Amino acid sequence: MRGWTDDPDRSPAVPGTRGPLEELAAAGIEVEVAPGVEHRHGETVHAHDHPHPHRHDRSGDHPAVGIAGAGAVGTALAVAVSRAGWPVVAVASRDAARRERVRGLVPGVRVFAEANALLDESELVILAVPDDAIAGVAGSLRLYGGQALVHTSGLLGAEALAGAMAAGTFAGSFHPLVSITADVERAVADLRGATVAIEGDEALLGLLADLAEAIGAVPARLPPGSKPAYHAAAVLAAGGLVALLDAVAELARGAGLDEQAALAVYGRLVEQTLANARALGIRAALTGPVVRGDLGTIEAHLAALAARAPGAGELYLAAARRELALAEERGALTPDRAERVRGLLAMRP
Ligand SMILES: NC(=O)c1ccc[n+]([C@@H]2O[C@H](COP(=O)([O-])OP(=O)(O)OC[C@H]3O[C@@H](n4cnc5c(N)ncnc54)[C@H](OP(=O)(O)O)[C@@H]3O)[C@@H](O)[C@H]2O)c1
Repeated sequence: MRGWTDDPDRSPAVPGTRGPLEELAAAGIEVEVAPGVEHRHGETVHAHDHPHPHRHDRSGDHPAVGIAGAGAVGTALAVAVSRAGWPVVAVASRDAARRERVRGLVPGVRVFAEANALLDESELVILAVPDDAIAGVAGSLRLYGGQALVHTSGLLGAEALAGAMAAGTFAGSFHPLVSITADVERAVADLRGATVAIEGDEALLGLLADLAEAIGAVPARLPPGSKPAYHAAAVLAAGGLVALLDAVAELARGAGLDEQAALAVYGRLVEQTLANARALGIRAALTGPVVRGDLGTIEAHLAALAARAPGAGELYLAAARRELALAEERGALTPDRAERVRGLLAMRP
């Protein structure tokens, strides 16, 4: 059994919030900022009111990390955390081939078939298993005092780990806002600069913030209860964008462009629009027939959708209704023109 807070004086400090605050605020997420953050480096306590990254210099400052689940996130974190100089001492995977893969990727790691075996090796255990499996796996574990357990779900809070907790243990969540696939090197690179949402026991958050910074990410502390909204925004930004691109490609096919050509042509427009939104704000970045109140153009689009890409119609209409709301907020349309656009959008393509 290992515990990273055996010495009560070494309990981690309450962290600061060092997220890309403007971007989170733009996404409607309120993040907590804690000025005057206290960090402990070795035995010395430092009070900081600045957002620079903190790293412990001595390897003895880092807890021994164990990871359960050698899927996309578990493997990427094992590699990223190990390369950051934190000791990844053990990984549990039920699959022999994945255990071998991890052994080849993480120097010095021990691999186990059972998550329970991690508890004899690790001070901080990361559960990188599907959301639906988190409570069950946690229920099969029993932490020792001083140990910490976190999961990587974007949706769930630390309470999902209740089954594993005992007196003097710490629970949290550590969610990288990155689309992580089986391509480990790409995932490790993408973690750099990404936001990692942390929440859970107050005493654990400083350590989780340090871990996020160690892998090159930016920790953001979310208010309690905000994770479902935070995660829904992430799903809309990633999966939602893919769905939008698919609809764009469907329409582009009607104009004779294959998928690659559609991505080349419209991808540039997507990037330019994102840059505009970043520079000017979302509302000011809106262009197109809805904000101009161009009824004839919208009518022609609806006809083209019906004729050539009926599968994209619903998404076009949903987006256009949201655009109309933005245009009205911007004061871009007279009430009469806005009503006429609304009437058109109420029709099916
Ligand atoms: N992928 C992403 O983009 C991403 C990003 C941020 C956060 N997350 C979160 O990270 C967590 C893991 O996601 P992932 O994408 O890494 O999933 P994944 O690739 O499917 O890997 C999950 C791993 O969990 C283990 N596992 C699966 N079912 C299990 C069960 N019933 N009991 C115990 N272990 C089980 C398996 O590992 P072994 O077979 O090796 O034991 C599996 O490889 C989820 O909470 C997810 O929401 C994912």
